[in-house]
Amino acid sequence: MKKKTGERVPLELSVGEVARRSGIAVSTLHFYETKGLIRSNRNRGNQRRYPRSILRRVAIIKVAQRTGIPLAEIAEALSVLPHDRPVTAQDWRLLSETWKRQLDARIENLTALRNHLTDCIGCGCLSMHECPLRNPDDVLSEQGAGPRLLPLEDLAEHSAG
Ligand code: FES
Repeated sequence: MKKKTGERVPLELSVGEVARRSGIAVSTLHFYETKGLIRSNRNRGNQRRYPRSILRRVAIIKVAQRTGIPLAEIAEALSVLPHDRPVTAQDWRLLSETWKRQLDARIENLTALRNHLTDCIGCGCLSMHECPLRNPDDVLSEQGAGPRLLPLEDLAEHSAG
C-alpha cells in the first residue's frame, strides 16, 4: 500500500506504532492480548506485529470500556469476529445493539438501586430480610437456607470456632 506521496504504508504495525496511533499504552495492548481481545503475529525477529485493522478493534474496545462494559463481555463479543479483517459497520451495529441492551439493563438496575438508597436513608436497619439494598428482590432466599453474605474465610472461621 502507498500513500499519495509515494511513501510506503506498512501493512503491519509494531506494538509501539499501535500504541502511538491509538493513544493506548503498550502495557495495555499487551494486557488486551493476554485477554484475547487482540492478536499479533511474530516477525522473523520474534517481535509482535499487528494488522492495520487492529486500530479499529482497539477503538471499539476503548469505546465499550468507556460505556462501562466489562472487559470479559467485550472479549466475548469480539471473539466471534475474525482478527484478520477490519471490524465492519455491520459488525459494529450488531455489537452496539447488544451492548445497548446490556447498558439499558444496567441503567434500570442502577436506577432501582438509587431509589432504594433514598428509601433506606434514615432507616439504616440493613436487614437481610427487609432491606432491598442488602437483598434485592430477596435473591438470597433462592440460594437456600443459611448465611449467604459472609466471605468463605469467615464461614470457615465461624464453623471452626
Ligand atoms: S436500611 Fe432499612 S430497609 Fe434498607
